[in-house]
Amino acid sequence: MNKTISTLLGLLICVACTQKSEETHTHNEDDHHHSHYSSMANIPAHKLIFPSKAPDRIIVSLTEDPNHSFSVNWRTSQEIDTAYVQIAEETHGPDFLLDKDLQQIIAATELIQVENTRDEEPLVNAAYHSAIIKQLKAGTTYVYRVGDGGKNDDTWSEWFQIKTPSTNQNEPFSFIYFGDAQNDVKSMWSRVIRKSYKMMPEVDFMLHAGDLINHSESDREWGEWFYAGSFIHATVPSIMTPGNHEYDKSVDRKKLSSLWRPQFTLPENGPLEELKETCYALDYQNMKLISIDAQSFSNSERSRQAQTKWLDSVLSKNTKKWITLTMHFPIFSTAKGRDNKELRESLKPLIDKYNVDLVLQGHDHTYARGYASNEGLGKTIVQDAGAVYAVSVSGPKMYESQKQDWMVKRGEYVQLFQIITVENSTIHYNSYTTKGEVYDSFSLIKDENGNKKLINNKSEVTMRLKKDYVKEK
Ligand SMILES: [Fe+2]
Repeated sequence: MNKTISTLLGLLICVACTQKSEETHTHNEDDHHHSHYSSMANIPAHKLIFPSKAPDRIIVSLTEDPNHSFSVNWRTSQEIDTAYVQIAEETHGPDFLLDKDLQQIIAATELIQVENTRDEEPLVNAAYHSAIIKQLKAGTTYVYRVGDGGKNDDTWSEWFQIKTPSTNQNEPFSFIYFGDAQNDVKSMWSRVIRKSYKMMPEVDFMLHAGDLINHSESDREWGEWFYAGSFIHATVPSIMTPGNHEYDKSVDRKKLSSLWRPQFTLPENGPLEELKETCYALDYQNMKLISIDAQSFSNSERSRQAQTKWLDSVLSKNTKKWITLTMHFPIFSTAKGRDNKELRESLKPLIDKYNVDLVLQGHDHTYARGYASNEGLGKTIVQDAGAVYAVSVSGPKMYESQKQDWMVKRGEYVQLFQIITVENSTIHYNSYTTKGEVYDSFSLIKDENGNKKLINNKSEVTMRLKKDYVKEK
């Protein structure tokens, strides 16, 4: 968000909440067990919920210029009202600490108060810090840490490494695409992101296609999401597009989670003030990456028109070889009884007009991947197939899908992550189950004139359907 405004807002909120911040960790006379609410009595969930002076929920994100910058966000208790990032080029040993070029950058800080009454969670006061680290060298690994600027290591994070991409447009890169994590994130999504990290091994960023959590205002659920990814979030940059669950249900999904902008720093180049950090575009090597805010799109005609016009404008000026769109609601739904007609009618003409390559989506808690003109033929090699559409799910919530002509492969009852490697002339897409076996695979080859060939590769795991695993009672 606009850091000047956010800091001012933070200060105003701070005045209003100083008294309450004391209350967060007070105990009543009958209870000395840190049981901030009864359902948490048996688990140390306050570690997920309550901040301390030590940084937590540390995450790096892509900026509009990933070659030379990255953003970092983290959280502490409100005792830390001024915070810093230190950064240096990576060295073989601890000698970067001696580096005269070791920089210290002050962060923007907002003091936030969250009370998720929907789940009877306690009031949480926290300081959210963020910084965009600029003027970095391309193709270089840095080490950075975040903290309070003091001499005590306890109030600093560990040093994390992070690599900026090369400016050589021909250098391949890889990213991981996750569908909805959403439910039981600590319990059941953690092994998906950790397996993906283990398999990377050199992955440049992660893309989350919305519904990272279930209840937009739940501090505990956001805590689980950060816990599950742990240091991966601080090491591999992310981008994320919001889903319906990042919008507050208590106000009819009309308001973005109050934690989205404090805890992530994403590009602010969308078409409306309310779409900053939710609808945006960035360039990564030879790929244009675009996030459409699908919930906002369905909320208002104003947003729909603004995002459609903006997408047309962004794509008309595009000079990158590859174009990837991400949005939470699918252009072609996979789950039974679901359809996003307005989204499809507004955006598909632009996807076709500008020869978009990948459309990465979530929401339907099933898997499907295909292309509009497939007609159920299941060809191995397809000339000029147009955009490839994927719907995926990484969390444990499972729906049933409906076989449709556009689908090349579909699946149910399977948690997946996709590793997508982009070369100058070919995109390699592999969808992996949580066991690390290939569920779906294709290559997309594009020549100098923009002509594309889709090759559907063999996979290791045959189609999974929920009925084979869950017996109706
Ligand atoms: Fe959703």
